[in-house]
Amino acid sequence: MTVALFDSGIGGLTVLDEALSVLPEENYLFYADTLHVPYGSKPKEEVRRYIMECADRIMQEDVKALVVACNTATSIAISELRARYQIPVIGMEPAVKPAVALSRPNGKRVLVMATPLTLSQSKYTELVARVDDQGSVDSLPLPELVQYCEQLIWDREVIVDYFTAKLASFDLDQYGTVVLGCTHYPYYRKLLEEILPRHIHIIDGSEGTVKRLQSVLQENNLLGASTHPEIRYMCSSGDEQYVQKMQQALSFLRSRREVRTGN
Ligand code: DGL
Repeated sequence: MTVALFDSGIGGLTVLDEALSVLPEENYLFYADTLHVPYGSKPKEEVRRYIMECADRIMQEDVKALVVACNTATSIAISELRARYQIPVIGMEPAVKPAVALSRPNGKRVLVMATPLTLSQSKYTELVARVDDQGSVDSLPLPELVQYCEQLIWDREVIVDYFTAKLASFDLDQYGTVVLGCTHYPYYRKLLEEILPRHIHIIDGSEGTVKRLQSVLQENNLLGASTHPEIRYMCSSGDEQYVQKMQQALSFLRSRREVRTGN
């Protein structure tokens, strides 16, 4: 049995990277909707349909839990997915709550970066209303960053110029935390660190999501114990080259983690 992770593209691999460190004895299936990426700038109903098609396809495999490794897909379809399948479905949302907890003691604001679709959903606005009673959370849609990531554009100058332009209207000294509310964005974390003032924390939702996966597997007696765990890749276009791209992207994330944490 396998844990499936689903995203529009290679973004969800940032969650798989975390899962491999916390739950190394699981088998994983990573599924990308290459036919329809990006999700974040398309109409909600259209994206909802794509998500259901992909999830139905994933369920034909031997899956014991589904991680929706995509903030956009979670924000528009998580309830429907949970109602549709018998297995546990774990979603993810921008880490606004821990960000507010980090920034508030210092009187600082929070900046949430995510796709336009995520930021326009009631799931997001209700989350912000719940955890922020002082109006200290601002949002910044970054749809182009998903495209850069899918095209494997890591060019320092292009990305730094992009971030600089997008952040130009913000007084960054007022902010204590930046939330990466899209699973594609952590690929650019290092470049963002270079641009932001040093006091700003950058957080994403992958740690919380994988913790949740771990406890759900535990509660349901589903924890794996594979001595030779496998990672399988699938994509909606069936494109073999994209599978290679996913493998390379994950290797990049794994090697960067080794440098960062030593494991
Ligand atoms: N990676 C996805 C997310 O976390 C979606 C990006 C997209 O397809 O626009 O929101």
